[in-house]
Amino acid sequence: MTEPTDPPRTVVVTGAASGIGYATAELFRDQGDTVFGLDISPSVPDAVTYVECNVGDKAAVDAAVARCAESGRIDVLANVAGIVQFGRFEQITEAEYDRVQDVDLKGPFFLIQAALPRIRAAGGNIVNVSSVAGNKPQGYSAAYSAAKGGLTQLTRALALELAPEGIRVNAVCPGTVDTPLVQHVAEIFPPDLDPRVMDRLMMMLPGKAISPAEIGQSIVYLASPAARMITGAILAFDGGMS
Ligand SMILES: NC(=O)c1ccc[n+]([C@@H]2O[C@H](COP(=O)([O-])OP(=O)(O)OC[C@H]3O[C@@H](n4cnc5c(N)ncnc54)[C@H](O)[C@@H]3O)[C@@H](O)[C@H]2O)c1
Repeated sequence: MTEPTDPPRTVVVTGAASGIGYATAELFRDQGDTVFGLDISPSVPDAVTYVECNVGDKAAVDAAVARCAESGRIDVLANVAGIVQFGRFEQITEAEYDRVQDVDLKGPFFLIQAALPRIRAAGGNIVNVSSVAGNKPQGYSAAYSAAKGGLTQLTRALALELAPEGIRVNAVCPGTVDTPLVQHVAEIFPPDLDPRVMDRLMMMLPGKAISPAEIGQSIVYLASPAARMITGAILAFDGGMS
């Protein structure tokens, strides 16, 4: 945990109504930051300001970022919102493919473009939540793997482009984290597919599953002054899956 700053930092967390985003928003809040939670669902933690936003909708993102930046600055942007998709490649509809790209890849693109002037003004930084699937793709989730691979490379490319300005851009790549997103995987994973893919999803170091707060702590760390020399990092948080 970092020391409270004066004035408090303004932190924007997408996907703050559930799982990793919820835990991350709580952690930033608990260290004294002013936290805005952008989501399509309002169930963000207490004392986190909810801003309704579909991250795949550029106009909605622009309006939400303007609301968060009323203080004139954004110190941290954590792009956490995401959705998964499972199924045979040939059965992915265009609408399904677009939806995954819109939320998982274009969402961070829209958020970063909208927030960058305020991040620049604040000397702030960006943390994206990609996935183990962005480093080592998995079968039957081509749209998700493509989106997360894109997000990982977007992170690296932006880290290079923004380094001269001192703006850091990093990513966390979780393996299987105990959140609603994976609690429902078994239900949406078609039963006729190769079960080894499901086995791999569950393949981690022995012990407890990764908790959302553990991923949140790594996001808080990467966003903190303690990580001031870290940019372009793709932090695999997957118990060895990748
Ligand atoms: N849980 C895992 O095992 C795991 C593994 C690797 C990567 N991830 C990534 O972590 C991130 C968070 O996942 P999670 O497990 O906490 O999931 P989750 O389902 O618990 O939470 C996702 C949040 O994103 C929000 N969201 C969905 N679509 C949105 C949209 N269009 N606009 C705004 N908000 C939207 C949801 O309402 C929800 O609050 C995702 O990017 C996911 O791909 C998760």
